[in-house]
Amino acid sequence: MPYDRDHWEQLWQKALREHGDKVAKRPPNAHLTSELADLPAGRALDAGCGHGAETFWLAGHGWEVTAVDFSATALAHARSTADALGPEIAGRVTWVEGDLGVWAPPLRAFELVVCLYVHVAGSVPEMVQRMASGVAPGGTLFLVGHRPIDPVTGKPTAAANQVQVSVAEAASVLTAPTWQLLVAEERPRAAAGTGVDAVICAKRVS
Ligand SMILES: C[S@@+](CC[C@H](N)C(=O)[O-])C[C@H]1O[C@@H](n2cnc3c(N)ncnc32)[C@H](O)[C@@H]1O
Repeated sequence: MPYDRDHWEQLWQKALREHGDKVAKRPPNAHLTSELADLPAGRALDAGCGHGAETFWLAGHGWEVTAVDFSATALAHARSTADALGPEIAGRVTWVEGDLGVWAPPLRAFELVVCLYVHVAGSVPEMVQRMASGVAPGGTLFLVGHRPIDPVTGKPTAAANQVQVSVAEAASVLTAPTWQLLVAEERPRAAAGTGVDAVICAKRVS
């Protein structure tokens, strides 16, 4: 199954048609809120922002957020949720329709780059490198990938046919002396009650 733009457009159209109100109220990712709550605000990139829950959380914590997704439907929904949240939030977000397979952030432009649960069509290390290129010196890269197999049951997860970031592939790119790995581990996927996520948090030293 190709996880391309058309596929995501259809998924978002269905999800928003069937329960758009619930989507708008989804809480931000728990890995992200626990790891990033103490970072001083600056410029952030939310790559693959979807419905925007993390973008809103970041904007609410003072970040100026560039939110990128290739689904026009998801972006339109996120933008209208931002407007409903008010100018404090909406005014801190720039929405960008772009394909992360080819879209590269401006070099070293962000104090924080986050990329959560995005299927990678090409090489994972290349994608990590592309996201990492947007992080300013002293800034943070935060990646989360849903792992395809639940280690407890041995069964395929919802991400079974997707390629998402893994700890090993991220760590192979985020090496010293340029990077300091702060978190690189698989953690239980509490929100789903099953499965694990690869959680990677790294600081650009230079
Ligand atoms: C599973 S959702 C995750 C959304 C959000 N990051 C979160 O954690 O809830 C994956 C999102 O990535 C977007 N996406 C997937 N591949 C993409 C690509 N190549 N370029 C841009 N966006 C992409 C999809 O449209 C979707 O909104």
